[in-house]
Amino acid sequence: MARRSFIRGTGGYLPEKVLTNDDLAHMVDTTDEWIRERTGIKRRHVAADGELTSDIATAAARSALEAAGIPVSEVDLIVLATTTPDQTFPATATAVQAKLGMTGGAAFDVQAVCSGFLFALATADSMLKQGLFNTAVVIGAETFTRILDWSDCGTCVLFGDGGGAAVLKAEEWSGEPLSGVITHHIRTDGTKSDLYVDGGVSSTGTIGHVRMEGNRVFKHAVTNISSAIQAIYDETGLTGADIDWFVPHQANKRILDGVAKKMDIAEEKVIVTVDEHANTSAASIPLALNHAVRSGRAKSGDLILSEAMGGGFSWGASLFRL
Ligand code: UT7
Repeated sequence: MARRSFIRGTGGYLPEKVLTNDDLAHMVDTTDEWIRERTGIKRRHVAADGELTSDIATAAARSALEAAGIPVSEVDLIVLATTTPDQTFPATATAVQAKLGMTGGAAFDVQAVCSGFLFALATADSMLKQGLFNTAVVIGAETFTRILDWSDCGTCVLFGDGGGAAVLKAEEWSGEPLSGVITHHIRTDGTKSDLYVDGGVSSTGTIGHVRMEGNRVFKHAVTNISSAIQAIYDETGLTGADIDWFVPHQANKRILDGVAKKMDIAEEKVIVTVDEHANTSAASIPLALNHAVRSGRAKSGDLILSEAMGGGFSWGASLFRL
């Protein structure tokens, strides 16, 4: 039987505590006006003391499973994209597996920073198509505020915490090329060091803090994301006019508007959530997708194009039909 993965439900979770731009203006040399103008961000959520990435990921997974109407007992794969794991090991995905009460299957983490959800989606999709597993929960979850330097106004205003998830089910495929999870284009370039954390297990023995040459990352982001989308247009013969919803990684409204314009995607098709929760790294795409679905905009049958760019550099694009 030819198999394909289909997205059967989406979910999301944002921690209760909200930090506004004005709150940040009391902490570092910044203003609400600067942050809104340069990024589109108004506020971000911050995990409570003791609230772990696995708690956020589990809440997002539960909400996606509920939306899909699929019991945990059917899930045999969890792929969690995160840069902010609970512990160095075991994989945070296994904590989610335990918290969900799942006793079988497999759970592991994927690390591609802000592009992590697309790498996790491509990984789970490949495993489902191959027949290794049947039902996957793909999650992006972060406690990114824990690796911020709260004295660096160039980075601490940009990020927030949260989690999003999608439930994927392998089903018999009719052969219609533009159905279910259609294709991915994921890439990395290890020679670029404009976005990184200045610590780690085998280097400093500390967790470190996010460091970024924002302007250089910005320029690479537009170029790399556009090339990934172009690869998908070339492969499928589609153009921006064929896409129902554009669900980009939410780093900066100027980046996602710039990419949409360059790739001929109409403004009204762009899902924007960066204003409400800033850049949540691997969580941003599933949170935006969940927002698109729950707000009643994206419906079953709609064609969705997603993209991301992050540290590594890592970047990519995915195409799927809801
Ligand atoms: O998700 C991973 C990928 N990450 C990204 O995609 C982020 C990409 N980069 C960006 O989004 C933007 O580059 C930033 C939002 C980080 C910065 O915007 P920019 O338009 O590139 O500004 P800039 O870095 O060129 O800095 C402009 C000025 C500088 O001052 P001078 O040198 O012109 O006097 C900065 O020091 O803005 C200053 N600045 C700030 N001012 C107030 C930097 N951060 C702040 C701040 N508040 N928070």
